[in-house]
Amino acid sequence: MRITENFNGNWLFRHGFDAARAGVVQEGETVRLPHSAVELPYNYFDETEYQKPFTYQKVLDWRPDFEGREVSLVFDAAMADSVVYLNGKEIIAHKDGYTPFTARLTPHLIEGENLITVKIDGSENPEIPPFGGQIDYLCYAGIYRDVWLKVASPVSIANVKIETPDALADAKTVTARVFLANPQGLAISGALDAKIRRKGGGDVAASSVAIDGNEATLTFSGLTGLELWDIDNPALYALSLKLTTAHGEDVVTQRFGFRTAQFTPDGFLLNGRPLKLRGLNRHQAWPHTGYAMGRRAQEKDADILKHDLACNIVRTSHYPQSKWFIERCDEIGLLCFEEIPGWQHIGGETWQQESIANVRRMIERDWNHPSIIIWGVRINESQDNHDFYAETNRLARELDPTRQTGGVRFITNSEMLEDVYTMNDFILGQEEMPGNNRGRVVLRDRVETTGITKPIPYMITEYNGHMYPTKRFDQEQRQAEHVTRHLLILNAVAGDSDISGSTGWCMFDYNTHKDFGSGDRVCYHGVLDMYRIPKFAAFAYASQGDPADKVVMQPVTFWARGERNIGGVLPLIILTNCDYVEVTFGEWPAKRVYPDKENYPHLAHPPVVLDLRSVTPEEFGTWGRVWREGTFTGYVDGKAVTTMTLPADPVPTTLEVVADDTALRAGEKDAVRVVVRVLDQCGNLLPYFEEPVSLVLSGPGRIIGPAEHTLKGGATGFWVEAGDEKGKLYLTVSTRRLLPQSITFTVS
Ligand code: GAL
Repeated sequence: MRITENFNGNWLFRHGFDAARAGVVQEGETVRLPHSAVELPYNYFDETEYQKPFTYQKVLDWRPDFEGREVSLVFDAAMADSVVYLNGKEIIAHKDGYTPFTARLTPHLIEGENLITVKIDGSENPEIPPFGGQIDYLCYAGIYRDVWLKVASPVSIANVKIETPDALADAKTVTARVFLANPQGLAISGALDAKIRRKGGGDVAASSVAIDGNEATLTFSGLTGLELWDIDNPALYALSLKLTTAHGEDVVTQRFGFRTAQFTPDGFLLNGRPLKLRGLNRHQAWPHTGYAMGRRAQEKDADILKHDLACNIVRTSHYPQSKWFIERCDEIGLLCFEEIPGWQHIGGETWQQESIANVRRMIERDWNHPSIIIWGVRINESQDNHDFYAETNRLARELDPTRQTGGVRFITNSEMLEDVYTMNDFILGQEEMPGNNRGRVVLRDRVETTGITKPIPYMITEYNGHMYPTKRFDQEQRQAEHVTRHLLILNAVAGDSDISGSTGWCMFDYNTHKDFGSGDRVCYHGVLDMYRIPKFAAFAYASQGDPADKVVMQPVTFWARGERNIGGVLPLIILTNCDYVEVTFGEWPAKRVYPDKENYPHLAHPPVVLDLRSVTPEEFGTWGRVWREGTFTGYVDGKAVTTMTLPADPVPTTLEVVADDTALRAGEKDAVRVVVRVLDQCGNLLPYFEEPVSLVLSGPGRIIGPAEHTLKGGATGFWVEAGDEKGKLYLTVSTRRLLPQSITFTVS
């Protein structure tokens, strides 16, 4: 039977690489994967620090169970230009930094110690995507995903493509094309037995086929009583395959779901039902560790998008992301737009061939995920290039005729070789550009951007971002404008049946090159900050969710007399999915204010806006008058479901320290996020409390990043990472003015 073992522990890591010494063990630091070659500061760093070669080494002892079997290492990804050596001999090179590759060890293994040496090179090799031009994100060096040791029969299952051609029928069909690995070129004959199982057990159907070559197809038909995969009920099934040949057995299990996904000129249909796509773009990046975060952190991002931000789609800008992230999308019902690596620049012939190979690797890795509904097969925001993109589209359709293609662009009138015209529309904000006399335009008309008059499937893949960078600790007025811009676009998309949906730029702030961002190597484009702590704009998305899932009511204010220009808090946007909100100010009788359907007619949950339609500035008093407490109460179906008090005289009262979880796994670099906030006497964040906090952790683990933080906008965050030992981790967070807080984690 196949053995798949985690191979992440006990690597020796060092800066630099010397090919002449690939066959000898060199001194290094012992590390566990996923690993970032250089841990960067939060901001203001020099990104060229990691743009160089590094060496990873590990000894693999021969084991009796290797005898007569195929032994290989599967790298889920490494950034970049990886070369794997076994006992000094180069056995495979893989340039791309985002797709998996397999190093076949078998023919070179010796009975004894086998030295694996991996060179990775963080320099931006202009011969491969996304490099060769400027890019607005960082490609952090390291073996930043998992590595697996695989021991399988000489003939084994290499991959399977599962299709559900009539997913909506009562009696369903499943076809599975199974591809075998036969590196020794042996004669193959045998049998392939397959079973479909429900999640949590229970067989649905079984089928078998005789094998006499490197590929086989199994068909199951007339399957009844099965559930569709949908965003509210992401029903998953498993296909288990057992291969039996004269060379041994192999077993592989692959998850899949029954669903249809179709972009049409009249919008997107999931399982034949119209669904307006509402989502955000996501990079796979974290402070300090860059790309190198494991399963929990990947899954958490998907959970935040789905449950905290009420999104139904994510775009994996601008590359294939961790399998842990995409598997989580399958599990929770979050749709996914996945795309090949690249950013604006198209290189020469070799570069383009590598990009075409990326299309293949992405699709062959991910074709069974029900969450993925479209393949992005164009370099993000590149110019037209007929031959190149004709080929990426041809290949995508050949490999996976079940999904449509998209290609993200910002140029207008560009050649449409894809099935869906996917457009970054940055028109909102252009009214501020000199010479622009169109006034404020929220989104352009489809015919204007595409130049195509016939109806075509159309989606907005980016908006806002650099048009209005906003920090979590920016002045309230700016944040209100940030919120407004997100709302305006969500409203326009919701009201236009030509548009399948949108993904805004972007989920969270991210580190970037000096050519972008605020000069401190951060692009403040997120609706969350880098710690995934929300800005007000996050609630523009969250408030579109159903109050039955989560009640949202967030006034876009720090509630002070003099924070805004001229003073006061009007107009005051309250992001909410409540039916109405009652507001009091000091001694006021409560004022009931309803969602602003006038300005946001298409939103499921328009914000409640307190402005001159419902109050006069005098009611708040003018500059020099006493400032008063405000209360907000949200009602659903006539019942008060949430309430918030904003004091007139906020004072620091509580140091709040919240961990996403306190149970960690040993030996996996399992990392959990901790958010620190300073709260006033009513439990609200103090937006200008910027004192230092110190973090002390004891036990088998570490804090990622520094142990001293300065609060940014009253809050900060960090990740606690478990080490290899089991035990308890004790965390204490303290400031000068407030009671310290402690959390105990169990590492088991
Ligand atoms: C787009 C690009 C994104 C990001 C964004 C900032 O042009 O696709 O990667 O740079 O701008 O708004």
